[in-house]
Amino acid sequence: MKAAVLNRIPGELEIEDVSIDKPAANEVLVRTVGSGLCHSDLHFMEGHWQTKLPAVMGHEGAGIVEAVGENVHYVKPGDHVITCLSVFCGQCRYCLAGHLSLCNNPAPTSRPRGSAPRTTNAKGEGLAQFARLGAFAEMMLVHENAVVKIREEMPLDRASLIGCGVTTGLGAVFRTAQVQAGSEVVVIGAGGIGLSALQGARIAGASKVIAVDVEDAKLDVARQMGATHVVNGAKEDAVAAVKEITSGGVDYSFEAIGLKQTVEQAWAMLRPRGTATVIGMVPFGTKIEIPGHEIFMEEKMLRGSMMGSNQFRLDMPRFVDLYLDGKLMLDEMVSHRIKLEDINHGYDLMRRREATRTVITFD
Ligand SMILES: NC(=O)c1ccc[n+]([C@@H]2O[C@H](COP(=O)([O-])OP(=O)(O)OC[C@H]3O[C@@H](n4cnc5c(N)ncnc54)[C@H](O)[C@@H]3O)[C@@H](O)[C@H]2O)c1
Ligand SMILES: [Zn+2]
Ligand SMILES: [Zn+2]
Repeated sequence: MKAAVLNRIPGELEIEDVSIDKPAANEVLVRTVGSGLCHSDLHFMEGHWQTKLPAVMGHEGAGIVEAVGENVHYVKPGDHVITCLSVFCGQCRYCLAGHLSLCNNPAPTSRPRGSAPRTTNAKGEGLAQFARLGAFAEMMLVHENAVVKIREEMPLDRASLIGCGVTTGLGAVFRTAQVQAGSEVVVIGAGGIGLSALQGARIAGASKVIAVDVEDAKLDVARQMGATHVVNGAKEDAVAAVKEITSGGVDYSFEAIGLKQTVEQAWAMLRPRGTATVIGMVPFGTKIEIPGHEIFMEEKMLRGSMMGSNQFRLDMPRFVDLYLDGKLMLDEMVSHRIKLEDINHGYDLMRRREATRTVITFD
């Protein structure tokens, strides 16, 4: 099968013919139908983060179950599924508390050391699966705890977006920050993740939803998806603008880019007792600076959100329902559909900030 492989960091993706094994006892083989381009892969390609190489990249995928291992009862061939990188062991303290995205016990959901790799390149070398999924490939072989079954009415190209971006953005609002109806919200960065957070805020009943971006085209999409106000941070002081719109700051801010500067803006945009949630992947090793006195004098809070603090087998089917009920806009989120061969072009569009979300479709 064909897959997009990262062989060096920094580096571009290379389309290779790779072999994929049969499912072991608790594994599921999925025929990929849609795979979204999330910015996280790009951080690794650009060298801001490190991962095991060579790796089949991609982690925002949906498809149809092709085959299952002998112990898998949750899904069967023909089922429609979304994959999620929050592969849960079900045994660690985080899983037991429902915090699947923090599971730190990969052994029970991985192949034992020394066994055949799930995917192999033409030279016979084992390939890592980025985020334990490897969704930029015609097939994904994953542990059963990496999939959720969904309704068949859901178009699988748009379902793929729920695999990371939508769950991360909506989850940051619903689960991490738990935005209250009537509150005031700002989302910095109107890409796939930010637009999902913004829609989450709209669905949660926020009274003001402010989108900040540096591209007017992104802000137009943000308005379409429910932003009540937009601010172009390249043309005006974003913090001053948000404070003015809200008379003094927001209750909740979300950073959906991954820059030190915008995380610090997210903090500065808060009113006393506000919460800033960092979603963006700040480059590894980067330190964030915030004025210490504001932490206690204003009782502000800074926190992170890993994959929207998801419980994805509960959350993703709900997000599918929200889409099918017309409450979650995903058709408008997909700005480009491409083939796997054009993946580097897809990432160029992201670098140039021209794509809202690009989705690879497989025949
Ligand atoms: N926390 C998690 O679990 C998680 C999950 C998925 C993605 N992420 C991260 O979320 C971030 C966003 O991902 P994405 O796929 O939506 O990216 P994207 O590239 O599609 O969107 C980023 C947006 O930020 C805007 N932008 C860039 N610089 C800006 C600035 N200085 N001020 C305002 N806007 C600016 C761009 O125009 C773009 O619209 C990435 O860092 C990604 O790695 C985190
Ligand atoms: Zn992602
Ligand atoms: Zn666990």
